[in-house]
Amino acid sequence: MVCKKEKINISRLNLTNVSHILKLQESSDENSWGKESLIHLLKDGSGSGLILYKGALGVGYIIARTIQNDLEILSLAVLPEHQRMGLGSILFKEMEKCIISGNRAKIFLEVNNNNRKAKIFYKSMGLCQIKVLEKYYSTDEGKEDGLLLSKVYI
Ligand SMILES: CC(C)(COP(=O)(O)OP(=O)(O)OC[C@H]1O[C@@H](n2cnc3c(N)ncnc32)[C@H](O)[C@@H]1OP(=O)(O)O)[C@@H](O)C(=O)NCCC(=O)NCCS
Repeated sequence: MVCKKEKINISRLNLTNVSHILKLQESSDENSWGKESLIHLLKDGSGSGLILYKGALGVGYIIARTIQNDLEILSLAVLPEHQRMGLGSILFKEMEKCIISGNRAKIFLEVNNNNRKAKIFYKSMGLCQIKVLEKYYSTDEGKEDGLLLSKVYI
């Protein structure tokens, strides 16, 4: 059987494709951002996002917002069956281009200390641990620590 490789393309998040993020969130382990919050982020101008498609299928996304001179990554996920193929890296590096072109100082984000694969992923993207956020996340298992990670550009 010949297996054709689906073409990858990346679209900027806008008011017409917010529903694609909502659909991706349903199928990923990542914290959900509601429709209204996403629209608010886009309308107030601080939010931005990218959606990665394989052919016509949305398989990953990244959402961020600017805070003063920095960029905070709010959410990043790749569908489980498309993980470990370099797609998360493509999304993160594409978002980094905005940092560099926008002359921003750093990227920062919070990650659950128990999220092993995200921690390895962010380390591979060059982020460093700034501090432990004790009992930061409320989960079914109780309170879990978060980590504040950052990557400085200028
Ligand atoms: C974190 C996440 C976005 C990574 O996406 P991905 O497309 O699988 O990442 P990549 O394929 O680009 O991986 C890049 C590197 O990250 C590390 N990595 C990614 N997944 C890993 C895993 N399951 N185990 C160990 N290392 C992993 C590896 O170093 C990998 O490089 P390698 O494959 O050459 O070894 C993805 O696992 C995901 O969607 N997780 C669920 C949602 C989530 O936790 N988001 C982050 C919340 S802050």
